Amino acid sequence: MFLVTGATGGLGRRVVKTLLRRQSPVRAFVRLSSRYHDLEQMGAEIFIGDLRRKASIDKAVQGTQYIISAHGANASGAGDAAQIDYQANIDLIDAAQANGVKHFVFVSVLGADRDYDDAPVFKAKREVEKYLARSGLTHTILRPSGFASNLLPLARTFRRTGLYLLIGKQENRTSIVSTDDLAEIAVRSVSIAEARNRIFAVGGPEALRRDEISKIFEKLFNRSGMLINVPLEVFDGARALLRLFNPSLGRDLGTLRTLLANEYTCNSREVQQVFGMDLESLHHFLRRNLSTLEAI
Ligand SMILES: NC(=O)c1ccc[n+]([C@@H]2O[C@H](COP(=O)([O-])OP(=O)(O)OC[C@H]3O[C@@H](n4cnc5c(N)ncnc54)[C@H](OP(=O)(O)O)[C@@H]3O)[C@@H](O)[C@H]2O)c1
Repeated sequence: MFLVTGATGGLGRRVVKTLLRRQSPVRAFVRLSSRYHDLEQMGAEIFIGDLRRKASIDKAVQGTQYIISAHGANASGAGDAAQIDYQANIDLIDAAQANGVKHFVFVSVLGADRDYDDAPVFKAKREVEKYLARSGLTHTILRPSGFASNLLPLARTFRRTGLYLLIGKQENRTSIVSTDDLAEIAVRSVSIAEARNRIFAVGGPEALRRDEISKIFEKLFNRSGMLINVPLEVFDGARALLRLFNPSLGRDLGTLRTLLANEYTCNSREVQQVFGMDLESLHHFLRRNLSTLEAI
């Protein structure tokens, strides 16, 4: 039995579906308020709980052999890195040890090892990585770059308006990863010997400048567009103002700032070799998902 946390998220939903397509039994950890009907209909066992509660986690882990931790606090600041990205994973790892779990897959983030000070989610991920490595559990740590599925709402806006909003440096590069490829890699991690007790940076096959993404949208929708570039200083000013009224939200926004201000590229060759996959380009991912875009 697999336990998937964050089962209603962009990645977790795909992990659950990938497992179900392989006819692997899956327990999906969801909140009562989430949309999980489709997962249940496809055959997932639904576990309703809250990752803020250790008792919930202990119960969810019982009887499972594999855990894929794919939950997370929202990088925009609405989440809670200390509780969700840090403590819930520590509790999951402890429960995994207590229950003799065979393999723990942890979805971290590209750059977790860069010691960013102003980025609560990055710090939490790094500390969980260290805790997991010390735990003695068989594990795989995946450090992905930005998910292609995050761009679907932006593509939808572009199709309607021709506008693409970009905050921060246009020339910064990013190896956007197909969220479907990442789900497949997370699932394969438990059965590939070379993936045991390893850390993998996972990015797509190309290092795109951020402004190239609007060019991909133009090609996809066969229309010209306009890129609106907001300097990072504007974001910083708004954040400083917000901090006066809501200090903790202001602090949490450091994760988003870190994402906007830096480059996130990696070489995908090793991942392609170890996991035996050809990773798809952003253009290919968006084209495949065009029907979803049209349905929205
Ligand atoms: N998105 C990216 O570009 C990116 C890049 C690198 C790494 N990552 C990492 O990859 C992982 C998955 O990201 P994602 O974008 O798929 O996340 P997401 O779409 O924001 O989903 C987050 C998931 O966590 C669940 N969750 C949050 N708080 C919870 C709680 N208290 N109890 C139970 N469940 C809770 C959410 O449930 P609800 O549906 O109930 O809200 C949701 O299923 C995260 O660890 C993230 O840090 C993401």
